[in-house]
Amino acid sequence: MILLPEQPWWQKGVIYQIYPRSFLDTTGNGIGDLRGIIKKLDYLEELGVSGLWLCPIFPSPMYDFGYDTSDYYNIEPLFGSMDLFQEMLLTARKKNIRIILDLALNHTSHLHPWFIESSSSRNNTRSDWYIWANPRPPRRPPNNWKSVFGGSAWTWSEKRKQYYLHSFTPEQPDLNWRNPDVKKELYNIIRFWLEKGADGFRLDVVDFFLKDDRLRSNPLCIGRRPYEMQKHIYDKNRPETIEIMREIRSLVDLYPHKLALGEVAERNTEIAASYYGPASDGLHLNFNFDFLEQPWKAKAFQVSIEDWEKLLGTGNWPVYTLSNHDVPRHFSRYGNCQNRARAAAGMVLTLKGTPVIYYGEELGMPQGRIPRAQIRDPVGKRYWPFHPGRDGSRTPMQWDDSPNAGFTDANPWLPVNPNFPRVNVADQKKDPQSLYHFYRRLIKFRNSSNALQSGIIRFTNPSNSSVLAYQRKVPGENLLILINFSSRDQPVELPSKFVSPHLAFSCPTLEIEAGKKRVLLPPDGFAILQE
Ligand code: NOJ
Repeated sequence: MILLPEQPWWQKGVIYQIYPRSFLDTTGNGIGDLRGIIKKLDYLEELGVSGLWLCPIFPSPMYDFGYDTSDYYNIEPLFGSMDLFQEMLLTARKKNIRIILDLALNHTSHLHPWFIESSSSRNNTRSDWYIWANPRPPRRPPNNWKSVFGGSAWTWSEKRKQYYLHSFTPEQPDLNWRNPDVKKELYNIIRFWLEKGADGFRLDVVDFFLKDDRLRSNPLCIGRRPYEMQKHIYDKNRPETIEIMREIRSLVDLYPHKLALGEVAERNTEIAASYYGPASDGLHLNFNFDFLEQPWKAKAFQVSIEDWEKLLGTGNWPVYTLSNHDVPRHFSRYGNCQNRARAAAGMVLTLKGTPVIYYGEELGMPQGRIPRAQIRDPVGKRYWPFHPGRDGSRTPMQWDDSPNAGFTDANPWLPVNPNFPRVNVADQKKDPQSLYHFYRRLIKFRNSSNALQSGIIRFTNPSNSSVLAYQRKVPGENLLILINFSSRDQPVELPSKFVSPHLAFSCPTLEIEAGKKRVLLPPDGFAILQE
């Protein structure tokens, strides 16, 4: 008998992303905290998730809400303390829930002591820890690189009479990953949190870690906004970055069952796939932003998934998500419709790969509308009204119908969605037909199905362009998943093995007549049939 290696938890289970500021406030300052997460671990256990990805919880002046870290070895006091972190870890562990930390290692805060020292002169012990360059005469930035968040990627320092690079806001100077001392320190940070017991990392913008060593200007191209008017061949995705991914992987693999999950916000899937490493020795997982940006069309998703499957091959494991803290919530992107939200969840939770769900999507929380005066996100502040910013996907979790949706007793840091009296956890828990219960039942089903956790995926092309149909299969379990992307009934021909199938899961309930070769899939219908 061949003994297959046990599948890691992060392949089998569902990961739930929490934006800690917005989950639950227990200190009365309008900002969520770690105690809030601890309090809701029962809720998360009941939902059936296996891991939590927490957006950054380290000390930060919050210019980019934690993605500007000023101390990598501590917990942000607004969120709690190291003791509280340990308590969260232990309580979660007892419930079989793992904790994934979000590390932003491309850049620090401009208030990080490393940057303060580095910018103090041209000859200090950290003078080369960031990317400094002389001006092009008379005092122009060193090259044409742009910040993702607008404007030049270079800011002038009077003290050094040089520019420093920041791929995001000026308050987020880019670290110099080419400096061995910097790399050593960043790997220490990874080791530090693994030793503390963290179960892995979501690694922010890994594609930006290395820049061209000669700082060459990017070639220009046609694009909608200034950042898109350049081909980003010199300021990110440098081929040598893969070496770093491999080093991180071997470091993380020294600790059993830990996860390195990358963020490469890239529609080019070949580039995104390359972060898994040439011999599957890079990151364990890397997000697929092509999938996340698909329109609500069966064919579009099928093409995206098949492309990703092909690029990853058999040695790499996919990860799928439809929402996160940077993009508008998919509930609203796909039409603010509870039934469609079921179909979307049905897809993400049954594909081959790790599903990552975003807090509140299990309720159908919509994208928030933030009045201008209440915008907090640096992107929104800079670009309103052309871009409202990302606050709308970060509004407080809707726990119940009490003031502020039970999120806080104080003034919430972002306004609560006004629909909270209708859309909240307490009400949905009471209603067996709710979206929450749909997620819960389906996650439960997934957690007990080998085919869904580890089986191969094969699309069956049901000659109906509104329906996505695929099989998930392991020896002894063969499932057919059907998802209707339209708001009409859709007939679907069943593959011969699925004539008179056992209906394992469906929403709304599917009528199946014995011996019939076709079923009528209701609008937004989702079904799992068993051979
Ligand atoms: C990606 C993060 O998801 C986003 O929130 C952040 O602003 C940028 N990286 C910069 O760290």
